[in-house]
Amino acid sequence: MNDLQERENWTSKLGFILAAAGSAVGLGNIWRFPYVVGTNGGAAFLLVYLVAIILIGYPVIIAEMSLGRNSQKNPVGAFKDLAPDTSWWLVGALGVFTGFVILSYYSVVAGWSMAYIVQAANGFTSDMEFANLFAGHITSVGEPLLWHAVFMGITVGIISAGVVKGIQKTVKILMPILFILLLVLVFRSVSLEGAEEGLAFYLAPDFGDLSWQSFNDAIAQAFFTLSLGMGAMITYGSYLSEDENISDSAGYVLGLDTLVAVLSGFAIFPAVFALGLSPDAGPGLTFITLPAVFAEMPLGTFFGFLFFLLLTIAAVTSAISLLEVVVAYIVDEHEWERKKAAQVVGIIIFLVGVPPLLGYSALSDFEFLGMDLLDTYDWFANTIFLPLGGLLTAVFAGHIWGARNTAEEANKAEGTLSVGNLFGILIKYVVPIAIGAIMIVGIWQTFAG
Ligand code: PHE
Repeated sequence: MNDLQERENWTSKLGFILAAAGSAVGLGNIWRFPYVVGTNGGAAFLLVYLVAIILIGYPVIIAEMSLGRNSQKNPVGAFKDLAPDTSWWLVGALGVFTGFVILSYYSVVAGWSMAYIVQAANGFTSDMEFANLFAGHITSVGEPLLWHAVFMGITVGIISAGVVKGIQKTVKILMPILFILLLVLVFRSVSLEGAEEGLAFYLAPDFGDLSWQSFNDAIAQAFFTLSLGMGAMITYGSYLSEDENISDSAGYVLGLDTLVAVLSGFAIFPAVFALGLSPDAGPGLTFITLPAVFAEMPLGTFFGFLFFLLLTIAAVTSAISLLEVVVAYIVDEHEWERKKAAQVVGIIIFLVGVPPLLGYSALSDFEFLGMDLLDTYDWFANTIFLPLGGLLTAVFAGHIWGARNTAEEANKAEGTLSVGNLFGILIKYVVPIAIGAIMIVGIWQTFAG
């Protein structure tokens, strides 16, 4: 590590939990989760998802935080430190690369959300054609490019300021705002006339709705939403002091992330059903179906504005964790100054995000397995990189560094929760087998379908 740059520590337990929860809570919860539930038939999928979060998400998040805190390093440095003279550091390198790829298109989608804050402020009215409005936005170039740049600029600004003055300070302000906005939107949605039908869709399971694809989607969603499989939690764990119990902190992060995802469903489905729309619009649910909902509901413009503000805030607190993974790697391993690392990496990521942004206009001829460029980036990240990173991290924590070392690190400080034998079984066998299976099914289905 660079002697000139002391490694920072979160200044409080709350600071760490909010930062990690901020990373977890993002577009994955508010944009992706509802449409994945919507296309998988609702309540039954929700149950499968919750099981995946507990049996797979919880052990992996503990493993990542423990690897990070024990080594006090970025993902590459962590594997080097815990298994010197082996090739395991490549898992960390895969993570850094994945962070790079995800942030590049994440910022494009976050840019759409920013554009929609402005759009909402100007008013959504019932005579608008929302599918055309959205298509018009993403097929243009200048505006999406501008918002993509603004979003990356904000992310770089926060990361340049450091772990405590940048990340921790930001999440302490933004996370409470996020919760309040979300609660306001949930109350608005469930109090609409005709909300019951949406509640039934969301809460009354029909297991006939499940397919293999549902299990696949549930596990992939669990990884993405908890920011697992690419070293974000290793990096955040590396700034955590020895006085904090990781089993507890990971539990809080998991709980908050799940709460926000579940509440997003309550904010969205009752409103969608109340206005007679369909929940299975896919990625367009947030940008096409919801504006139509806001156009019809009382004070819809105001709530629409709040919603896109909420979505953007959630995206910011996740994007900073993606950038931090790459920056921590460069600062630790290549001894760059933080600010310079953040700026240079930020510009490169911005550029890497330009092709998926243009995938709806200049590069719309590009097609990979029937997907546009943005979906292609997303497919590689979610179907290959994150599960692969998670699988290898679990194997490393369970078998190489060892489940016992991992559990010991997690339980180091006094806490309410502590992990033991069950954790060992999950991290050594259940997690790798489950992820291996979904990866094979996911890849097979993509190529067969
Ligand atoms: N968890 C974030 C979300 O739900 C996305 C993310 C993935 C962030 C991986 C960091 C690392 O939007």
